[in-house]
Amino acid sequence: MKERVQDADQALNIPVTGPGGQDTPSNFDEEKPMRFRPWPLAALLVLTLVSLASCSDSNSGSSHTKAQIPVTADLASGRAEYEGLCLTCHGVAGNAPAPRNLIGDECILCQGAFEPLEDYIRDFMPVTGPLSCVGACAENTAAYILCEFNPTLTEGCAS
Ligand code: HEC
Repeated sequence: MKERVQDADQALNIPVTGPGGQDTPSNFDEEKPMRFRPWPLAALLVLTLVSLASCSDSNSGSSHTKAQIPVTADLASGRAEYEGLCLTCHGVAGNAPAPRNLIGDECILCQGAFEPLEDYIRDFMPVTGPLSCVGACAENTAAYILCEFNPTLTEGCAS
């Protein structure tokens, strides 16, 4: 027994990580092997597929989906709110002298869905005073922009 312990002590004294020891880098590498963890990627992939599937569902039947105006939207209020808060930048007809045209192809958020437009107005417009047109104002002005300036991209405008 004693002899073995002595042997072990001697073995430990072998300069594994001694001065200039070439073993040091490879020992270090072996300590923590890299592990590939696929779960976050798999979860992302599943989410992407689910959202793609729901998109193609709602698009089925027509090549160009139109923005659907909610029944709660009030176009008359939307006009008043637009004229009070938006017209100075976006113009009477949504076209001037704004840095962003609110008509047709040039209106990025007027294409195919109501909510992104409403949310954008709620969060970012007017550019000089965000959050001053939220709730019904964001809904009404979004409906007004779609029904007045973009009727061909829109469904469900009253009257
Ligand atoms: C002070 C000027 C100003 C006012 C007032 C203003 N906007 Fe804007 N609006 C802008 C600018 C600048 C952009 C472009 C922002 C960008 O590209 O980041 C913009 C962009 C937009 C867009 C995006 C257009 C697109 O292509 O999708 C919408 C919609 C919009 N504004 C609606 C409104 C509404 C509704 C109001 C009133 C509640 C309003 N804006 C008030 C300056 C203004």
